[in-house]
Amino acid sequence: MKKTVLAFSRVTPQMVERLQQDFNVIVPNPKQGDINAQFNEALPQAHGLIGVGRKLGRAQLENAQQLQVVSSVSVGYDNYDLAYLNERGIMLTNTPDVLTQSTADLAFALLMSSARRVPELDAWTKAGQWQATVGAPLFGTDVFGKTLGIVGMGNIGAAIARRGRLGFNMPVIYSGNSRKTALEQELGAQYRSLDQLLGEADFVCLVVPLSDKTRHLISHRELALMKPGAILVNISRGPVVDEPALIEALQNNRIRGAGLDVYEREPLSDSPLFALSNAVTLPHIGSATHETRDAMANRALDNLRSALLGERPRDLVNPQVFKG
Ligand code: DGY
Repeated sequence: MKKTVLAFSRVTPQMVERLQQDFNVIVPNPKQGDINAQFNEALPQAHGLIGVGRKLGRAQLENAQQLQVVSSVSVGYDNYDLAYLNERGIMLTNTPDVLTQSTADLAFALLMSSARRVPELDAWTKAGQWQATVGAPLFGTDVFGKTLGIVGMGNIGAAIARRGRLGFNMPVIYSGNSRKTALEQELGAQYRSLDQLLGEADFVCLVVPLSDKTRHLISHRELALMKPGAILVNISRGPVVDEPALIEALQNNRIRGAGLDVYEREPLSDSPLFALSNAVTLPHIGSATHETRDAMANRALDNLRSALLGERPRDLVNPQVFKG
């Protein structure tokens, strides 16, 4: 008998078609009423879940007694209660690697647009305000040759560092749990404590996963350590930054600006950030390119398929629960 897969966020028709080759597929449909109710009703039948952006833990999964795998179409897995999944022997998979370059591109886009005030000046031009040559009040800050600080030198951090070092001649400093000696040799990157990095970097890019250790890693004290002309870029997870503290620092021009893709509460609505010309706000689009989202979907499908067919999935987050 075919196993059942339940989608917990939007999945493309192509994904459904691929899944249907091996499984019964249930996709909650907003046209048929409340999708949360449909999801909860289908849970007891589900052997596999696939999707992104839904918190899944004890309260949500108690009725999913047949569940074998949760396949997340994301690299980050802070939405899932890993301890609970382990306790239940449920596999969790993610989609690393395939989004590294597009996410690093976005970090750089935020860095550049904050430094050169691109969204602000675009809006200004379109509002018909360009009557004379732009003067100092609208000048930006240089990127080339400035110091790039990477907080969390994983694959994405390294991809951002390469862009900075090789494309913009930026000295790279980094902080994190461990020294990356190969990268130090490749890029001349230098290790710093977080406090040292904050005091030295012209651009601080946050690329750490969200955990109890990194929640509010950047708050009032850390923002106060940053240079007055520095720009903070966050492409990791919103709660890594104490958002009210950042808003205060931006309102007081304590730092020059921030380029943000992630927020403490998403979707972001009605935020004081909207009134700040020194904040560039994007809607969590680090991996949102056609190529990358297709690659992530395929990777998540492969992981789900392997898990439900008894093979070890390629991107298994909790290998200890695999019963091969
Ligand atoms: C990821 O893959 O973790 C992206 O941030 C999308 O959630």
